[in-house]
Amino acid sequence: MAGLRALQTDITTLTVDAIVNAANASLLGGGGVDGAIHRAAGPALLEACRALGGCPTGESRITDGFGLPARWVIHTVGPIWRGGGHNEARLLAACYRSALALAATQGCTSVAFPCISTGVYAYPPGPAADIAVRTVREATAAPGPVREVLFVCFSSRDLALYEDRLSACAR
Ligand code: APR
Repeated sequence: MAGLRALQTDITTLTVDAIVNAANASLLGGGGVDGAIHRAAGPALLEACRALGGCPTGESRITDGFGLPARWVIHTVGPIWRGGGHNEARLLAACYRSALALAATQGCTSVAFPCISTGVYAYPPGPAADIAVRTVREATAAPGPVREVLFVCFSSRDLALYEDRLSACAR
């Protein structure tokens, strides 16, 4: 079982094996954490993403981290919240699972996730945190290279949500 913890910081500053980007299906950048990661990584990241030809919702793709302290960037495309009746929960869980599967294939020992889909894509933060923690716990229960997973929050509100879910697991 990997160690899971939450922290409040800018994900682009973390020296981990892989940071996860909350991208869109084009993989050609955007605002939010996507914009921050591309700014910090530099233009080579966009060139690498162009070569990937996009990514469906729920799936993940990996690139070098270029100018980032992280070795790799795992780009995942979260679901846009449409009220909960359009497979949003299943697709969000698939983002965490597919990103961890790619990280394991790459031999990553440490992976940092932002709060996928809870910004521009408007997924309710509480249910998203439930899915994130539950899916990561399940996906890292079996032995594997990933030993540490960070839930990177950009607000104290999100940090409180993750600390609550993680402490519930520890009980
Ligand atoms: N570090 C960590 N978390 C961040 C950072 C950062 N530097 N910047 C933003 N966040 C947080 C947001 O506060 C939010 O909690 O990342 C979470 C995800 O929000 P978005 O970045 O808006 O991502 P998402 O809701 O998945 O929407 C994806 O937005 O930026 C575009 O190209 C992206 O079209 C895609 C869509």
